[in-house]
Amino acid sequence: MAATPELAGTPVLILKEGASRERGRGAQHANIMAARLVAEAVKSALGPKGMDKMLVDNFGDVTITSDGHTILKEMDIQHPAAKMMVEVAKTQDDEVGDGTTTAVVVAGELIGQAEDLVEKNVHPTVIIDGYRKAADKALETLEKIAILVKSKDKSVLKKVAMTAMASKLVAENRDYLADIAASAILHVAQKVEGQYKVDLDDVMVEKKAGESLTATKLIEGIVLDKEVVHPGMSKRIENAKVALLDCALEVEKTEFDAKLNIESPDQMEAFLQQEETMIEDMVKKIAEKDANVLICQKGIDDLAQHFLARKGILTVRRAKKSDMEKLAKATGGKVVTNLDDFATEDLGYAKLVEERKIGDDKMTFVEGCKNPRSVAILIRGGTERIVEEAERSIHDALCVVRDVVQEPKIVAGGGAPELEVAKALKEYADTLPGREALAVQQFAEALEVVPTTLSENAGLDPIDILSELRARHEKGEVWAGVDVHGSKVNDMKKLEVLEPLAVKKQIIKSATEAASMILKIDDVIASGKTKAPPTPPMGPGGGYGGMPPQY
Ligand SMILES: Nc1ncnc2c1ncn2[C@@H]1O[C@H](COP(=O)(O)OP(=O)(O)OP(=O)(O)O)[C@@H](O)[C@H]1O
Ligand SMILES: [Mg+2]
Repeated sequence: MAATPELAGTPVLILKEGASRERGRGAQHANIMAARLVAEAVKSALGPKGMDKMLVDNFGDVTITSDGHTILKEMDIQHPAAKMMVEVAKTQDDEVGDGTTTAVVVAGELIGQAEDLVEKNVHPTVIIDGYRKAADKALETLEKIAILVKSKDKSVLKKVAMTAMASKLVAENRDYLADIAASAILHVAQKVEGQYKVDLDDVMVEKKAGESLTATKLIEGIVLDKEVVHPGMSKRIENAKVALLDCALEVEKTEFDAKLNIESPDQMEAFLQQEETMIEDMVKKIAEKDANVLICQKGIDDLAQHFLARKGILTVRRAKKSDMEKLAKATGGKVVTNLDDFATEDLGYAKLVEERKIGDDKMTFVEGCKNPRSVAILIRGGTERIVEEAERSIHDALCVVRDVVQEPKIVAGGGAPELEVAKALKEYADTLPGREALAVQQFAEALEVVPTTLSENAGLDPIDILSELRARHEKGEVWAGVDVHGSKVNDMKKLEVLEPLAVKKQIIKSATEAASMILKIDDVIASGKTKAPPTPPMGPGGGYGGMPPQY
């Protein structure tokens, strides 16, 4: 059939002006490169001897961390394929809380290994199929080698937390902090239908710079970063009956301008008296119900504070909404939004509510709550940055302990499980036909990036280490891994470097999915961006306050 006459010679445009499109190998190569670059960026942070990164955001705020997910989040990555790698870290963090760096590094390596195959003309869909089979086999092998433990075995939980913190800035104090993390999770674990469940929201984490990491404490209750509002109030109440309010204790201002005509001092007096009575009534409604502590989400004016102090009610105002929810859960009270509805049953209970001085600030502690399943960790540390990184590390520790409590299976670390899985995959590959076998083989090699990187980061020769590791795994030493402190191959189980099985499984799952997704793309179509206006020239003195910009 002849070409449509109108189209002859004219290009057919299906995309908007300014849009760009890249297809085939070119697109694939660009995506693979971008994903590998992301992996490369976090690689040096892996393991106890990994380095930290210093990230500076648009406002000049500095974050120092070795947490894979945080690094990628703060890096503000633009490339679409690279962003998919950031998502790997995020999924890993959401699902199990640790192993984010490993997941990204393994995903990058899977993609790199796949590129070798693509260059040998193996079609991406064949690679993806092979990878999927390899991932299934890997998960099966991990299940097989996993060690069954008891959900509430604190010494194991503590060791798992210590491994998670071994690679962080807080490593030196990990013994102390791991104990806190394990105790906190054991405190909030609940048995539901024969299985332990942990809601991480039950563990409140507050931080305050000052003192040192060893001053970090586990509190059986809740900590509010707020002080008692009035100096005349008691700072300590035992057997606290806690009122939780979500309404302001002040006379509402009218929304429109109103004029009052006052003609005599008596009228003035009456007017002020009226306001005072209203506030006093509000306070009476709380005091009548026998409350001796009030925690309010909104404001409380001076007059109300005065009355509350007179009634002996310890009061905290402007508490965070999330804290109010936690308080309600912990004290068994109810957050009331309208004072008229406030009833005695709405009161919560705690053995002790007390304001304490922490560093230069005052904080309010609610301890011995009705619901024993509420704990708080108050993190202390030399500087703001240390406290922030400690918070991230404690988050990882809490997550891994939760993982083991919920699924009581562990593996040893240091690259041992990755090597054991690689060994199983290589055997499995021999049973597969042609090209799929190649993909499984490459998958196995990709996993070896974990021990290789651990040794590289520890300044060891990765080739020597890897060949020794392979040999020892061949001999049946399942837990032979990289002992980065002893600078040699060692039994990681004996060294008690323990990790949750859940983390290792999730690494395989998220890395395989991301790699497959990136490999499957052969066409990148990007809509044209509107051009940003030129930056106005700076006025004299470097500010914008000088002459108006000339365009
Ligand atoms: N003492 C140790 N000797 C050898 N390897 C160790 C030791 N402690 C931890 N590891 C290993 O270090 C790796 C974890 O490193 P790291 O915590 O930096 O990364 P991640 O857990 O993958 O990511 P992130 O913690 O950033 O989410 C694991 O493979 C773990 O087995
Ligand atoms: Mg970790």
